[in-house]
Amino acid sequence: MPQTIAVLDFGSQYTQVIARRIRECQVYSKIYHYTTSAEELKQDGVIGIILSGGPSSVFAKNAPIPDRGLFDLGVPVLGICYGIQLMGRLLGGTVAKSTHREYGHGTLKITKPGRLFAKLPRKLRVWNSHGDKLTALPPGFSAIGTTDNSPFAVIEDRRRNFYGIQFHPEVFHTERGVEVIRNFLVNVCGAAQDWTTKDYIKHAIDEIRRTVGKSRVILGLSGGVDSSVAAALIHKAMGKQLTCVFVDNGLLRAGERAAVEKLYGDHFHIDLRVVDASSLFLRRLKGVEEPEQKRKIIGRTFVEVFEKSLKSIGHADFLAQGTLYPDVIESVAIGNNPAALIKSHHNVGGLPERMKLKLLEPLRELFKDEVRAVGAALGLPREVVWRQPFPGPGLGVRVLGEITKAKLEILRQADSILIQEMKATGWYWKVWQSFCVFLPVKSVGVIGDERNYSWVIAVRVVESIDAMTADWTRLPYDLMQKISSRITNEVREVSRVVYDISSKPPATIEWE
Ligand code: XMP
Repeated sequence: MPQTIAVLDFGSQYTQVIARRIRECQVYSKIYHYTTSAEELKQDGVIGIILSGGPSSVFAKNAPIPDRGLFDLGVPVLGICYGIQLMGRLLGGTVAKSTHREYGHGTLKITKPGRLFAKLPRKLRVWNSHGDKLTALPPGFSAIGTTDNSPFAVIEDRRRNFYGIQFHPEVFHTERGVEVIRNFLVNVCGAAQDWTTKDYIKHAIDEIRRTVGKSRVILGLSGGVDSSVAAALIHKAMGKQLTCVFVDNGLLRAGERAAVEKLYGDHFHIDLRVVDASSLFLRRLKGVEEPEQKRKIIGRTFVEVFEKSLKSIGHADFLAQGTLYPDVIESVAIGNNPAALIKSHHNVGGLPERMKLKLLEPLRELFKDEVRAVGAALGLPREVVWRQPFPGPGLGVRVLGEITKAKLEILRQADSILIQEMKATGWYWKVWQSFCVFLPVKSVGVIGDERNYSWVIAVRVVESIDAMTADWTRLPYDLMQKISSRITNEVREVSRVVYDISSKPPATIEWE
């Protein structure tokens, strides 16, 4: 096992970001609930502890307080934001209640670089977001950095290897924040930086082989990044013991099914079963207009079709899923921590229990960027590794209102043009998602001397980090012009293209 850094979660919206930054430094990190006992951390052999920020005040009645025993484990501790206030409070310093939050950019002046700020400039622009603040140091500590607002912006106890920082090194707005984290990991905790993609793959393959033995594994392939990487990894470990099922629900984009067949069947020689259930899905969706109802029908039909296909495959013991680490973290729900609200598990719900299958989740320790690195190392093409997210209900929620075969076909043609142009200009790889939406409205157009009355396509292109918030992308006008004219020229039934300039919130990324 690689060395582990524990990130104790006090409900910060940035907890996962801290864990990811640590891993970017090739050090394995694990998020623990703040109530985790020091004994458990000791048993896990953690080599360092980071106390996350959090929305609470240390003075609040239900302030999250960790096991004080963690300060006696003999491992380095770094408190960030709420973490530094906790250290102040628990280790004998003074924390003052503040009536207003300090929020935004500040300038940090390093008075004594030590190990935490080694090889970094003496002045850094940092990002603050805190209410309370430390006003007197706990015994054994000295201040090594200040801001205009605080003489104790960075504190250290060299003897015990305890550090506290008032700002957020993990966020993008803090200049060279990752280097501060790396310095803590390497210079203070002595981390060997042994968390690499190559080692992970080797370790995961051993683990899959040990778990699966001689049994068979079934995996529902969606064509998305997670299930694709899980398939490639399990296939490398188990070869023919893996069978993948791909359900064509009739709501796929142009060429999607063929691409899956080519990659997994022809290239990887995976035992791939393609089930064409498109007529069944479309039949059940006939006349249905309400988005949530469409989603339910699509979800239910998928489970039914998948289940039936398993029966025809024969006996298997394991069902593999591309579950990722953010899906399994129990985020601390304090304030309106968005991490605690996202639990978007769009996987095959309830199937394993009903089918008496054991779950195999080889990616459950990984963040998305790590999954992409594993996929690339396993030889998956860029198109798959960097594919944009695509909703489970597919084009079903992009044809607004009732879904028909004809509308789906129009949408597919328009969407395929958009994707081609986005890829040709490289924009596809820079944005979070880019897609077309079929609007069930007709508008008047003119071709030559003739007027026509045909459909409208909306183009939606957004930038986002995690889909919680998003902004519409300012595509170059020339590119928009090309997309629009190609769609109206090449897709006969479309007379008008509109560009969606709504951010999330208040809009959502999808239209349904
Ligand atoms: P919204 O529209 O809520 O979308 O801003 C956020 C992200 O989630 C995707 N999405 C879905 N994914 N099943 C999925 O698997 C769904 O029903 C679904 N609805 C939205 C959407 O594409 C975006 O990336």
